Amino acid sequence: MPLGSVRSRTVSRETVHHPLFARYYARISVAAERRFGMGDVRDRLLAGLSGRVIEIGAGNGLNFTHYPRTVSEVVAIEPERLLRQLAVEAALRADVPVDVVPGAAEALPVKSEAFDAAVVSLVLCSVRDVSRALGELRRVLRPGGTLRFYEHGTGGGPAMRYAQRTLDRTVWPALNGGCHLSRDPVAALRAAGFELGPYRRLSMPAKGPRLPVSYCVLGTARRPGVEG
Ligand SMILES: C[S@@+](CC[C@H](N)C(=O)[O-])C[C@H]1O[C@@H](n2cnc3c(N)ncnc32)[C@H](O)[C@@H]1O
Repeated sequence: MPLGSVRSRTVSRETVHHPLFARYYARISVAAERRFGMGDVRDRLLAGLSGRVIEIGAGNGLNFTHYPRTVSEVVAIEPERLLRQLAVEAALRADVPVDVVPGAAEALPVKSEAFDAAVVSLVLCSVRDVSRALGELRRVLRPGGTLRFYEHGTGGGPAMRYAQRTLDRTVWPALNGGCHLSRDPVAALRAAGFELGPYRRLSMPAKGPRLPVSYCVLGTARRPGVEG
């Protein structure tokens, strides 16, 4: 079989097409910037980053204006067409150069060890294959490179966790662009061989009753460096 057909089959299998969710997310995510303090979370997520950065599942590009000027370049991967178009527009408003590129987390279209840092925010819930996506993130980070993450996942008491699992098995992913509520991003990062740096649990929104999407974690991990 020619290599070309293997490649195109792989790409089409990875294509993410959620036009209704994309429209909905483009609206609620902008509202959440101020209303739920997401803008502050994005500042904390990206503070202190430098060098070449890859952002996976960049959505409509709401992180872009929060990158510090110490970042020399952002390669922003986004598979969903509408969100990618919005990300291209958001890139024009950023203080740092942002290149928006189609692609999926499970097969990143970039060279190995090419980035000083990687960013995922609200993405590991939606990728089809978490361990493959994290394996790809390890591949493209240089040894010792940093991963910044802001993700939601499993949390609360037994009743909440049961509700999260039930929603995952029924309507939630179909209505929310493939999102899952009961994944455990910290455990997945450890299992993928990342060294966990500081991370903290937060509730989003911070006030009011906890929802199945409220159990968030914001933190840092590192691709282990070359030994000795
Ligand atoms: C909830 S949105 C988050 C967007 C953005 N990161 C943010 O912080 O607002 C989830 C994003 O993950 C993207 N996504 C879904 N599956 C993906 C995959 N397999 N690889 C890369 N991105 C994916 C979606 O297209 C969407 O942009």
